[in-house]
Amino acid sequence: MHDLKNKVAVITGAADGIGKSLAIKAAAEGMKLVLADIDTKKLDQLVTELAASGTEAVGLKVDVSMAEDVTALANLAYTTFGEVHLLINNAGVALAKNAWETTQKDWDWVMGVNLYGVTNGLRAFLPRMLTAGQEGHVINTASIAGLLSEPSMAAYNVSKFGVVTLSEGLHHDLTLRQAQIKVSVLCPAWVKTRIAEADRHRPADERIDLTKLDKVTAATGTSMFKAVQAGIEPEEIAEATFAAIRDGRFYIITHPQTMTGIRIRMDDILGNRQPTLLPI
Ligand SMILES: NC(=O)c1ccc[n+]([C@@H]2O[C@H](COP(=O)([O-])OP(=O)(O)OC[C@H]3O[C@@H](n4cnc5c(N)ncnc54)[C@H](O)[C@@H]3O)[C@@H](O)[C@H]2O)c1
Repeated sequence: MHDLKNKVAVITGAADGIGKSLAIKAAAEGMKLVLADIDTKKLDQLVTELAASGTEAVGLKVDVSMAEDVTALANLAYTTFGEVHLLINNAGVALAKNAWETTQKDWDWVMGVNLYGVTNGLRAFLPRMLTAGQEGHVINTASIAGLLSEPSMAAYNVSKFGVVTLSEGLHHDLTLRQAQIKVSVLCPAWVKTRIAEADRHRPADERIDLTKLDKVTAATGTSMFKAVQAGIEPEEIAEATFAAIRDGRFYIITHPQTMTGIRIRMDDILGNRQPTLLPI
C-alpha cells in the first residue's frame, strides 16, 4: 500500500510502547485509527491526544485473547469508518521462564495474548477485508524470538514462532487467492518499552517472582530487563514497519545484527549440529 492518507488502521496494544509509536506514525500518515488495548487509561489519553491534533480516532478496551472482544473491535471499526485497510496485531506480553517452571496459567496467558490475539484478529477482520476487495495490509508483531530460540523464554518463544509461521502461511493463503492484502511479520530484538513489566496486567499472585525461579532463569530475566532498557526506540520500529508497508515487504527485521544469528540457526539445522546459543 502506497497511499495511506484517509485509509483506516486498526492497532492492538496501541496504548504503550511499539503500538503507541505505530499509532502516532499512522496518524502522521493521515490515517484514521481504531485503537485497542487492555489499558483503558493510557488508551483514552492517546485517543484524546490524537483527536486534539486532528486525527479521526476511536479506542476500545480489548483483551485480545478474548475472541468476543476482538469481534467487538471489528464491529466498532466497520460501524465507525465502514472499511479497514491496515490491521496491526501488535498486543503482546513476555515472560522469562524455562519450560519446567512455566505454569499452565503462564502458558494460557502468553499463548492467549501473543498467538490467539493474532488469530482472533485475523478471524474478526480478514473476511470483511477480503469481501471489500480493496488493497490492504496485515502486520503481525512477532519478535526475533520467533526466529531464534533463546533460553528462559519457553512460552514466549513458542508463541512468537507461532506468529511467524502463521504469518508465512497467511501470506501463501492470500497470494494463492490473488488477494489485494499483503502480510508482514515484525521481528524486533530489544526495544525500549515496558514489555519486561508485561505482567502488570496479571493478578498479583500470577506475577513473576524472581526469588522463586532457578538462578539461571532469574539471571536471564534480569539481563533481559536491562537489554530492553538499552534497546532501540519504538519510533524506529514504526518507521521500519511503515517502510515495509510501502514496499510490500514480508519480513521486518529491525536489528540487522540478528541476521547473523538467523544464519547460524539455519546452518545448525542444515548441518545437523547442536543448536548454537545465540546472542540477540
Ligand atoms: N520491546 C521489545 O524488546 C520487543 C521485542 C520484540 C517483540 N516485541 C513485541 O512487541 C509487541 C508490543 O510490545 P511492547 O514492547 O510495545 O510492550 P509494552 O508492554 O510497552 O506494550 C504492550 C501493549 O500491549 C497491551 N496489552 C497487554 N496485554 C494485552 C491484552 N491481553 N489485550 C490487549 N492489549 C494488551 C499493554 O497494555 C501495552 O499497551 C509485543 O507483541 C511484543 O512481544 C517487543
